[in-house]
Amino acid sequence: MALRTAFTEFFTSQHPIALAPMGGSAGGALAAAVSNGGGLGLLGGGNGWDRDWLNRELSILAEGTDKPWGVGFQSWAVDVNTVEYALTHQPSAIMLSFGDPAAFVEPIRRANVALILQVTDLEEARQAVNIGADVIVAQGTEGGGHGARRGRSTLPFVPVVVDMAAPTPVLAAGGIADGRGVAAALALGAAGALIGTRFQATMEALVAPAISRALIDGHGEDTERSRVLDIARGSRWPSKYPARTLGHPFLEQWRDREDELAADDAAKAAYQDGVARGDLLPLPAWAGEAVDLITDLPSAADLVGALVAQAEDALARARTH
Ligand SMILES: Cc1cc2nc3c(=O)[nH]c(=O)nc-3n(C[C@H](O)[C@H](O)[C@H](O)COP(=O)(O)O)c2cc1C
Repeated sequence: MALRTAFTEFFTSQHPIALAPMGGSAGGALAAAVSNGGGLGLLGGGNGWDRDWLNRELSILAEGTDKPWGVGFQSWAVDVNTVEYALTHQPSAIMLSFGDPAAFVEPIRRANVALILQVTDLEEARQAVNIGADVIVAQGTEGGGHGARRGRSTLPFVPVVVDMAAPTPVLAAGGIADGRGVAAALALGAAGALIGTRFQATMEALVAPAISRALIDGHGEDTERSRVLDIARGSRWPSKYPARTLGHPFLEQWRDREDELAADDAAKAAYQDGVARGDLLPLPAWAGEAVDLITDLPSAADLVGALVAQAEDALARARTH
């Protein structure tokens, strides 16, 4: 049984699975592997500030697959020039998340490239529908990395967005790390799943070995959403978007004291010193609640195949119950 949906039809991809464009860790090799495995690989262009990284990883991706692929950026941070630069590599899609995507729509449309918008609350969902996104990703708060402070859980949020956006295909994101989650996404009316945390624990992901190990060892209750680590590392993420990460000494120390930390230069310097000494990881271990389901470090193409086989199995079992 093939899982055919409006998403697979739109991209002529084999499977209703997309790689989340995880800034910095979803590089060209990972995105190409997901596309080659039959999903949609999305490069994590992040804020777009590191043009050398983008240039290198776009080339690896474009040369690594002849299947559809795309690039994701953070709307609050990226500029139009960078999006136009990515468009010159002829992706099948550009995905925008976190912030107002309006400024980027015209160049993407002009290039005849599909527009994917990730939404974290109903207001963003309405805007994505009004803009006429080709695919909308509805992200629940279980997800790893950044998301709306006043967001909603995946299970109730996805069907609301599906109803609001119809007939536009919606992907479910947040807390999906195995094929049962993919099956659940389809049961909610989504046209597929966009998956981040699970793909970080693959051979091709650009993550430090300590992060891979933490993902394999981690549990959902070890994750929490906070702005503390963004403030500590001097990141300019808007306050609307805290991030879900695994535990960290600075979280223990500064939980619920974000304003105090923001005003404490000595504490922020101590964070930088900790990183310089190697006591602290340079980046937070962004991870979603489904991290318990990660027990190995497969190749991304094998993972896509396993997710689909599990989803088919879960759907068949649900039918016979
Ligand atoms: C390490 C990491 C980095 C992320 N970076 C981005 C990003 O740069 N842009 C983006 O649109 N989403 C980013 N996300 C969020 C994903 O798009 C997606 O919503 C999330 O991973 C889904 O939840 P899951 O992690 O439980 O699969 C990131 C997620 C993770 C785990």
